[in-house]
Amino acid sequence: MSITMAERKQDKLLGINTLGIREWKDNSFHYNRYEPTPYKALDELAKNYVLRNTDKVVDFGCGRGRVAFYLHNRFHVPVTGIEANDRTYEDALENKSAYRLRAKHISAPINLKYGLAQLYKIDRADNCFYFFNPFSEHIFRKVVHNIMCSVEKFRREVDLILYYPISEYKNFLETNTPFTVIDEIRVPGGSDEKEKFIIYRLKSAESNPG
Ligand SMILES: C[S@@+](CC[C@H](N)C(=O)[O-])C[C@H]1O[C@@H](n2cnc3c(N)ncnc32)[C@H](O)[C@@H]1O
Repeated sequence: MSITMAERKQDKLLGINTLGIREWKDNSFHYNRYEPTPYKALDELAKNYVLRNTDKVVDFGCGRGRVAFYLHNRFHVPVTGIEANDRTYEDALENKSAYRLRAKHISAPINLKYGLAQLYKIDRADNCFYFFNPFSEHIFRKVVHNIMCSVEKFRREVDLILYYPISEYKNFLETNTPFTVIDEIRVPGGSDEKEKFIIYRLKSAESNPG
């Protein structure tokens, strides 16, 4: 089965349409285009990184919502998706309506927000943050700063999941923050060294000494 056929099939199972890409009209320097995380990568993530029902996921730059619906469906956890492109956000809302018809039995909320990731007010229960290269390092730093401020206020352990991690994000986390790598999950058959997830964790004791 070709990659696209397999991807189409998985979309169909969730009742959504997340295929394709969408560029920004003005070729924005800070905001990256829409492109979904491949399902085969998500399958590998879910095998190796199990979410508990106390976890609450945020996908920064959720696009058409693939990651949010996938994790909601697989782990029955609350998910929030934030998207800054109005057309892509509309697509995500349509997907939510269709997905909800199939996932009536899953009571965990799905919260889709239109807006900029760097302006999202981190909820005190949010503890798992997903990034598939949505924006520039400059914005990434702001978002991580917001997460760290939230942790300082409401002590908890938090994880960042980076898919297809770029060196700018990695270097920043490793040299400027107390996050440490707890796992690397490779996508099988991936020919590209970046086809993997890196999970970073901020342990609550480290983030709040004393
Ligand atoms: C590479 S896609 C990832 C989509 C989704 N997270 C996934 O993995 O399937 C990045 C998305 O981030 C959105 N985006 C870019 N800058 C953003 C910002 N500042 N705030 C919110 N969303 C943004 C883009 O419009 C695009 O839909």
